[in-house]
Amino acid sequence: MNINITDLHFTYPTGLEALQGISLTIHSGEQVAIVGQNGAGKTTLVRHFNGLLKATSGSVIIGDWDTTKYSVAKLASRVGYVFQNPDEQLFSRDVLTEVEFGPKNLGYSKEKIDELVKQALVWTELTDKTETNPYDLSPTWRKMVALASIIAMDTPIVIFDEPTTGQDFANVSRIAHVIAELKKQGKTVITITHDIDFCAENFERVIALSNGQVLLDGTARDVLGQEEILAQTYVDPPQLTRLGKLLNFKETVINQEEFLKAIK
Ligand SMILES: Nc1ncnc2c1ncn2[C@@H]1O[C@H](COP(=O)(O)OP(=O)(O)O)[C@@H](O)[C@H]1O
Ligand SMILES: [Mg+2]
Repeated sequence: MNINITDLHFTYPTGLEALQGISLTIHSGEQVAIVGQNGAGKTTLVRHFNGLLKATSGSVIIGDWDTTKYSVAKLASRVGYVFQNPDEQLFSRDVLTEVEFGPKNLGYSKEKIDELVKQALVWTELTDKTETNPYDLSPTWRKMVALASIIAMDTPIVIFDEPTTGQDFANVSRIAHVIAELKKQGKTVITITHDIDFCAENFERVIALSNGQVLLDGTARDVLGQEEILAQTYVDPPQLTRLGKLLNFKETVINQEEFLKAIK
């Protein structure tokens, strides 16, 4: 299911024009990272995909649905959105109820709900915490509950807003694992991130936003190699990419594996 965005503009009621003419196509099954300085418009952009925000002008089409013509409830069957702050998302008394809520709401059969919930709990390593109140969990585990409750909805498109911010190493690995599983299932994964190593290791395509516009859009290698342009939106390429440049490597390297190959 493709996402087609054409000349999207969005102005907040305060008069601030957060999106200033964005055109993009994100194809079914793509793994895309969105980077850019604070306030670049990343969250504003993805909130158009599930209808939380409606375009001031231009259009956002999900598959064959024009998002301005569908409710958030309806779009929830196509686009799952994991909020940056789980506390804005979680509301149930226990983890199981929270994770079951989405798929139940979409009207799936009991068997399908059980299967999806089980899988989401396994992927997020929450199987031993199903009876716990999410608010009795640490913020890192609460993040996993937020992930599980969206994954369990089995939408073709999944969006993560800054999933690794404030997370420890173990949780960053868990999140990378979840993204890899979603990729195997052929889902479209769109992730906003400040963690450029995480971006280089897990995403094929990178879109850099700056002041409500697309600054760069291409393969992770092409985009992360453009140090000067990225600096305009306060994004540093991965350490290894910069080191590779200093060592005059012919090709841009973006991860350990490539770095080691180039040095041999
Ligand atoms: N609810 C809001 N009301 C008014 N302005 C907002 C609101 N949310 C975000 N903004 C402004 O819109 C711009 C883009 O914000 P945002 O999409 O949150 O950026 P990012 O996610 O890239 O950090 C910023 O200038 C921000 O201050
Ligand atoms: Mg944001």
